Amino acid sequence: MEKIAVLTSGGDCPGMNAGIRAVVRKACHQGLKVVGIRRGFEGLMERDVVSMDSSSVSGIIHQGGTVLKTARSSFFKTGEGQKIASEAIKELGIEGLVVMGGEGSFRGAYALDKDWNIPCVGVPATIDNDIAGSDLTIGFMSAVNVALEGIDRIRDTATAFDRLFLIEVMGRTSGFIALWAGLAGGVEVILIPEIKTDLNEVCRKLKEGRRRGKTSSIMVVAEGDEAGGAFEIGEKIREKIGYEIRVVVLGHLQRGGSPTALDRILATRLGSAAVGLLIKGERGKMVGMVSNQIKVFPLEYAWKGEKKIDLSFYDLSQVMAT
Ligand code: F6P
Repeated sequence: MEKIAVLTSGGDCPGMNAGIRAVVRKACHQGLKVVGIRRGFEGLMERDVVSMDSSSVSGIIHQGGTVLKTARSSFFKTGEGQKIASEAIKELGIEGLVVMGGEGSFRGAYALDKDWNIPCVGVPATIDNDIAGSDLTIGFMSAVNVALEGIDRIRDTATAFDRLFLIEVMGRTSGFIALWAGLAGGVEVILIPEIKTDLNEVCRKLKEGRRRGKTSSIMVVAEGDEAGGAFEIGEKIREKIGYEIRVVVLGHLQRGGSPTALDRILATRLGSAAVGLLIKGERGKMVGMVSNQIKVFPLEYAWKGEKKIDLSFYDLSQVMAT
């Protein structure tokens, strides 16, 4: 193998640059040529590539976003798009591709590998942490820390003003960010898609808190909760018990900023391991971190495997909120 490529795809997250750096530096260390593909699969179809060497990834380990840029491409999901992408890979002399991103990106890598004979390896990077095969995905802990900082700041004003706040965090259809940030922030109520939301019970808890002398409370809701968006839930609670409630949607704040030490180390280990796999001739695989060990799974394990939220975190948050 002489030449590999790396791309980032889907929602950007802190740590992607550390991952790109790891792929490039490991490839150079092993004597491979490496190119970066800009704007994910969209850029691949347009042959938007850049040659990279060790110096092209200097000074990026601490930066959020992705120097290669990213995109979500609906055209790439079609057979026609994948054909164009695979022709581009072959024309550019690329013998292996590292795809860094979330589930949608892994599905793209899977199609390229299986249907178009392009050796691909996936590196899980998404703030949502919803990929099986890795305890944590790159970007998740950084997003949790941003959400936590938001909770802490809101706590100050909630306490000062004796107010009830509802904070919505990202996570697509999973509640990882809400659960981890909520537990770390000591919030009173956590609403996640993995646990059925009973708003009557939520209102009972809030009233009970007031009865015990609590003058302010913070609730965290995951954007994918089945009870609806934060504004809708806030309005329902106001209608049920008449409490004044302030709603904060943290949104894309959670996707930006410098990655935590954990995310940088995770990205460095996983990016390097992905190149190692390609060199060994492995393909159609993803790398993950399980109990602090690098593990290798088939790409499809990312969405077919089980990635369960740890419900003991939820139980603990309930105990702590009493
Ligand atoms: O998958 C990452 C993520 O930030 C989700 O948490 C969120 O639902 C989605 O992407 C937002 O996507 P967009 O940036 O396209 O609005």
